[in-house]
Parts: sequence; C-alpha cells; structure tokens
Amino acid sequence: MQYTPLMPQLKIAVLGSGKGSNFRAILSAIMAGHLRVTPVLAASDVADAGILTLADNLGIPTTAIHEPKYRTRLSTEVESGLVEQLQASGADLIVLAGYMRLVKAPLLEAFPRRIINIHPSLLPAFPGLEAWKQALAAGVKTTGCTVHFVDSGMDTGEIIAQSEVQVLPGDTAETLHARIQEAEHRLYPEVLVRFAKQGIF
Ligand code: GRF
Repeated sequence: MQYTPLMPQLKIAVLGSGKGSNFRAILSAIMAGHLRVTPVLAASDVADAGILTLADNLGIPTTAIHEPKYRTRLSTEVESGLVEQLQASGADLIVLAGYMRLVKAPLLEAFPRRIINIHPSLLPAFPGLEAWKQALAAGVKTTGCTVHFVDSGMDTGEIIAQSEVQVLPGDTAETLHARIQEAEHRLYPEVLVRFAKQGIF
C-alpha cells in the first residue's frame, strides 16, 4: 500500500484587465482535470473585462476595482482594499493575466513571491506594452512568452518559465501576437501545474 500525503489544494486569485484568454486557458486545464488549483477570486479594474464574465459564469466570486485617480497603478488606498479582499478570499497565489497596472507596495508586501505574471516576450527582452510589436520592429527571429514573479519594476521580476515562438517571414503584429498567445495558453497552466504539485519556491 502506498501512502500519499494530502496536499491542500492551491488557491489562486486572478487579476486582469483584458479579454481573459489566459484565465480561460487556466480554467480549461482545471476542468480537463490537468490542473488541481481552486480559483477563489477574479478581480478587474475594467468593468466589462473578460475574466469577470468567465468567473461569473462558473460561480467564482468576482470583484471590481474602482480607481478614479491613476491609470498605470492603483492608489495606496484602493490597492490596500484589494489586498483585504484577496486575503479574505484565502488566495495563496495571485495570478496576473493581462493586468495592465504596476503592482505597488501594499500588494507586494502582502504576497511576497506569491504574485506571478505572463508577458508576451522572452524577458528581459521587450518589457512593457505590445512586446510582440517591439520584437517585430527589432527584427528578431525568435520571441515568445515569459512567466515571472512580480516585483516593483515593469516586467523585471525573477523568471519562472519561458516558451519560444519563431517569427515567420510575412508575420504581421496580429499573426505573431496570436501565436504568442497560443504559447501563453500552454505555458501559464504548465507553471501552475508545477506549483500545484511541487509548491512555490
Ligand atoms: C497577454 O498577452 C499577456 O501576455 C499580457 O496581457 C495579455 C492578456 O491577454 N500580460 P488575455 O486577457 O489573457 O487574453
């Protein structure tokens, strides 16, 4: 007889501002039985963000973030309020999936080494916005996507995993971005599978 210790299932909260295709890929991996994590909260600073609809449809709690003052970050008060909700949700890991603001001290201090992000380039190359367009403009032959821990910089945190995507002759910003997103949809669930099985170090 083999004894398998019971590991409590990792609880994730997802933060996003966009269409939510990475969250969809994570949910698909959970529903297919490949990924054993529990999504406990979806939060967005955009009222009609895809991740809120996806979560609503599955009965996952959601929260809307209202930031009246800033566009590229949350004010300390608003981010502290978000931290309270994330802590109340019991989330072990905060998964940024297209969250378009910098993360500041309240969130970083509440979840040290427990916030991850996916970025559409092979970091440290092409941090910031529209990284696939930066890659095309630079004329590189290979780009890709990166999952990394989040720190106070823009796409500067420790790299966890990367996946390469070749730039093909005739690629446009749209075709390249679409292939990078396909790679993202494989890589993000893979990283979560690893964390769920081995813990986060
Ligand atoms: C992804 O391309 C990710 O790399 C970047 O934001 C985008 C989010 O897309 N950080 P989606 O909302 O998951 O579809």
